[in-house]
Amino acid sequence: MRSVYDYYTLANGQRIPCLGFGTYNAKKGDNLAIIRDAIVAGYRYFDTASLYETERVLGQAIQESGIDREQFFIVSKLWIDERGYEEAKKAIERTLERLQTDYLDLYLIHWPRETEEDTDWKEKNLETWRALEELCEAGKVKGLGLSNFLPHHAENILENCKISPVVDQLEIHPGYTQEAAVRYCEENDIRVQAWSPLGRSSMLENPILKEYARKYNKSVAQICLRFLLQKGIIPLVKSSTIERMKQNQDIFDFKISKEDMSIINNMPQNTWLGEHPDFAIPKKKSNFAQ
Ligand code: A2P
Repeated sequence: MRSVYDYYTLANGQRIPCLGFGTYNAKKGDNLAIIRDAIVAGYRYFDTASLYETERVLGQAIQESGIDREQFFIVSKLWIDERGYEEAKKAIERTLERLQTDYLDLYLIHWPRETEEDTDWKEKNLETWRALEELCEAGKVKGLGLSNFLPHHAENILENCKISPVVDQLEIHPGYTQEAAVRYCEENDIRVQAWSPLGRSSMLENPILKEYARKYNKSVAQICLRFLLQKGIIPLVKSSTIERMKQNQDIFDFKISKEDMSIINNMPQNTWLGEHPDFAIPKKKSNFAQ
């Protein structure tokens, strides 16, 4: 990979840029300005979701940019309460309307199950997937994917689908590498995307990573992003300043050595920053993780 415009080819033949911009919790009230800056900074791959409430401003920023829709790679997700065959079909219409577009590059199921008590989650996800497959066949969605699905959640889809998921979006950063889930995705031709690649900025003061930042003459954020890039994982990075947006793209002119990759891979692990899909009991949307 030589720039943010370089891409991987997904299992369905789609090309996906190797670095994306996350719009979750783009600083409150200023989402439009942040996304406008991100387009100016050069990002074309934008990750959103109905949960984030950034679809409308993303659509507006894209329209205002004057850049062709085809130049963008737009990913959105349906939320837990939008699962189900009928609900999913309505959810995408709302998403497309807010984004002012007639197709998504990828559409993901955002979260595999609602609560520990959500015992019919397998069936619910399959009904949802059936709707997503039809949307794909109708051309409203170019590819389908998962988000926060661990191997046992993904297996239910893989064993019963006509159209396979091509991505899974997971919380991944140095210190939280989810090796088992990543291995499962690799074995099943599912490209992994990382949300919170900087650990919601918690990794920025990590002494091990600070040492590597000094060694490679880069920032800790750049070490985190380069680490993921070298693992073939797509980081979805967020920032509210144009300087950091640009800095986060400046990761293509150095390489972390094999030994240092191994040390970072095996550094002490910290816990899941968001909720765990099998054990969280979200009370309301605003409490929820990405
Ligand atoms: P800011 O918006 O002030 O740039 P994550 O994507 O892991 O959830 O982390 C997001 C956080 O990381 C944001 O608070 C963002 O703050 C911060 N951030 C993003 N890029 C950088 C960078 N290059 N240097 C320092 N902080 C960064």
